[in-house]
Amino acid sequence: MPEKSEYQQARKSYHILTYGCQMNARDSEVIAGLLEGCGYNCAATPEEASLIVFNTCSVRHSAENKVFGKLGEMTALRRKDPSKLIAFGGCMAQLPEVRQILKKHKVDIIFGTLNIHELPELVRRAEEGQVPLVQVWDKEGAIIEPLPSKRGGGFSAFVNIMFGCDNFCSYCIVPYTRGRERSREAGGIIKEIEALAAVGYKEVTLLGQNVNSYGRGLDRKLDFPDLLNMVSEVDGVERIRFTTSHPKDLSDKLIDTMAHNPKVCEHIHVAMQSGSNRILQLMNRGYTREHYLERTLALREKVPGVAISTDIIVGFPGESEQDFADTLDMIEKVRFDSAFTFMYSPRSGTKAAAMNDQLPVEIKRSRLHELNQLQYGIALENNRFLEGSCVEVLVEGPSKTDPHKLTSRSRTNRIIIFSGTDDIIGKTIHVKITEARTFSLFGEIAR
Ligand code: SAH
Ligand code: SF4
Ligand code: F3S
Repeated sequence: MPEKSEYQQARKSYHILTYGCQMNARDSEVIAGLLEGCGYNCAATPEEASLIVFNTCSVRHSAENKVFGKLGEMTALRRKDPSKLIAFGGCMAQLPEVRQILKKHKVDIIFGTLNIHELPELVRRAEEGQVPLVQVWDKEGAIIEPLPSKRGGGFSAFVNIMFGCDNFCSYCIVPYTRGRERSREAGGIIKEIEALAAVGYKEVTLLGQNVNSYGRGLDRKLDFPDLLNMVSEVDGVERIRFTTSHPKDLSDKLIDTMAHNPKVCEHIHVAMQSGSNRILQLMNRGYTREHYLERTLALREKVPGVAISTDIIVGFPGESEQDFADTLDMIEKVRFDSAFTFMYSPRSGTKAAAMNDQLPVEIKRSRLHELNQLQYGIALENNRFLEGSCVEVLVEGPSKTDPHKLTSRSRTNRIIIFSGTDDIIGKTIHVKITEARTFSLFGEIAR
């Protein structure tokens, strides 16, 4: 091979298209770090990039559709400039039927969620023209760390504490795309967080599909609340968040830790999915509505002002009017501060996709609408409760909707917008709430 000219080296640049959850957002930071380690620069647009990387999500059909739409656009770009490379990773890359479709699009590199660390080698080979390349493990090995990463700016960072999922909820593709549950050793997690604090990060969000089961399988006996306490010892970290919590593993010890450790924020995301015991059982969720209610009441009682958010699916196979009414009833009982709500989407290979009684989309749509109307009203009422009060916020930067104002986040994960000068960005201050809306609040700096 001839030496690459300086010109070729200089135009090595990447653009990452990220879809899906926080896991993917975090993986994209690692992908960026790996690519910068082999001489690539970040390009602001796919048009400018010599390498376009897809980091995809397959949790619902709509997520996959978005990706396929974009892939069409990107292959059109490559027709104009055939030297461009397209790499395709993330959860969709794990699925054989997707890889079959990708052949048609002549994707240069396909890499699995367990193969991210191999990207530099794959890219090097692709640069030499050895395409197409497919590197997808279907079984996880040991966790590979540390990997370089290029984090987004700001004062808040995602930190993986575990990978994969063992729960096999009957609707969910994640256990198939992310492998079995594995926890990271606490030592590596703490080192990573110390390094983040040293460069000025103030807040960390610990990530896992089910953080409540952190520690299973580790030599050192350590559970999630123990880890939270260890993280809170890191100087410079002011706030600790985590996501997500499975209701079946939500322990009293976690609730006590949230109540007593001042660095742990008063917000918890506990996916309820359905309020009907019959549907919860069909979903293989491992708890009842009574258990869910008991846990969330315990949270509200022991952690003053706690915000509880959730995920809910409507239109699961066989969901009757009564089952749906049970979900609405739970929404009124728990009074969620926010909810991510979804129409059930059959994922091939999962148990629920093969169930009888798949519901028509019209029913799903109308139930979703009804659910959202109820939930929005409750979220607004909960927010209005805060009007006139003073809350602690971490100032994030200029507001996206009004660049003359600043946006910030309360400990309960509410977005609070107010007027202030740039010098307070990254600081923790107190804001008095003047007006509450459904998805954000407005305030003024408390004197
Ligand atoms: N591990 C997380 C969830 C990850 S997926 C947890 O259990 O808390 C995020 C959300 O997508 C799920 O909570 C669920 O509400 C939704 N979801 C997953 N599979 C789905 C499907 N097939 N159709 C519709 N929504 C789905
Ligand atoms: Fe999916 Fe259930 Fe695992 Fe969450 S806990 S990722 S919903 S299988
Ligand atoms: Fe996340 Fe989507 Fe995969 S929700 S784990 S990126 S299927």
